[in-house]
Amino acid sequence: MQHSKPMISLLLTGCVGLGASGMALAEASDRQAMVQAHQAFAVIAHRGASGHAPEQTWPALEQALAVEADYLELDVQVTADGELVAFHDDDLARTTSVEGAVGDFTLAELQALDAGGWFNDAFPERADAAYAGARILSLDEIFARYGDSVRYYLETKSPHLNPGLEAALVERLEAHGLAEPERVLIQSFDQQSLLRVHELNADLPLVQLLWYYPEEEGAEALVEWTGVTPAPEAMSDADFQAIADYAIGVGTNLTYYDGREVIDADFVAQAQANDLLVHVYTINDSETMARLMAWGVDGLFTDFPDRLRALAPAE
Ligand code: G3P
Ligand code: CA
Repeated sequence: MQHSKPMISLLLTGCVGLGASGMALAEASDRQAMVQAHQAFAVIAHRGASGHAPEQTWPALEQALAVEADYLELDVQVTADGELVAFHDDDLARTTSVEGAVGDFTLAELQALDAGGWFNDAFPERADAAYAGARILSLDEIFARYGDSVRYYLETKSPHLNPGLEAALVERLEAHGLAEPERVLIQSFDQQSLLRVHELNADLPLVQLLWYYPEEEGAEALVEWTGVTPAPEAMSDADFQAIADYAIGVGTNLTYYDGREVIDADFVAQAQANDLLVHVYTINDSETMARLMAWGVDGLFTDFPDRLRALAPAE
């Protein structure tokens, strides 16, 4: 199972839910400019076009760009030798032939692995011989290849497993000339990670990720994974404002594993009334895409950016 968030023990490095006063974006005008820069409806290619090709490999990124996705969504982790790679899971086992964390291996060791063959086995109807042998990608090579021709939506993934991630990410963005407010969005489930990014470079717009799930299996009551907000139906304007103090948007799940919807149109409207963009993950069927667009969401994370682009033609 790719999503196992409630099972994971979060080792957040600070107090979640704290007021972010003092960390608030420096100038209201800067914040407004950041919001406006990302306000057009966003087709967010989740791990690239990961429904069509092995996630976060060249084929997935190329296919996302071929259908004019607005953002490449990438999960960023740190290798044993301090390099940054695009990789989602806490363990390599699902998409490579080895077990262990990204941080257990050097970049060279990771790039010797086949990170594409698994896709052909898992999705034979979408298999392509060219996917076998696809490599794990470093952020450096992605930035070198695409530069400022694309927008990046970068997640600080599992910061408790990736010490130094935020500093390394900001440093690489700056080195590549990509630390521009209109060029990137930085996302995380970990509020403290976002605040560390903000301390390092206040020009980088932030998105607070949210994961709502039942308090107990089968229970009505919902909780947010890290406790960064109350249950969605209990959200007050003050709760949204606490996020708007440091972030320009939220990225939230629509459904729990059993298909239960955890947010509704009112949640979206209230977030937007509090000057937050609302991006929803991970939406792969066209019918749900259209329904969420009718709610007025600002963008969708999808493994099939071609389907979403068909509903939201590029301008
Ligand atoms: O970053 C948005 C979405 O990708 C969060 O879920 O587990 O796919 O990183 P995950
Ligand atoms: Ca992600």
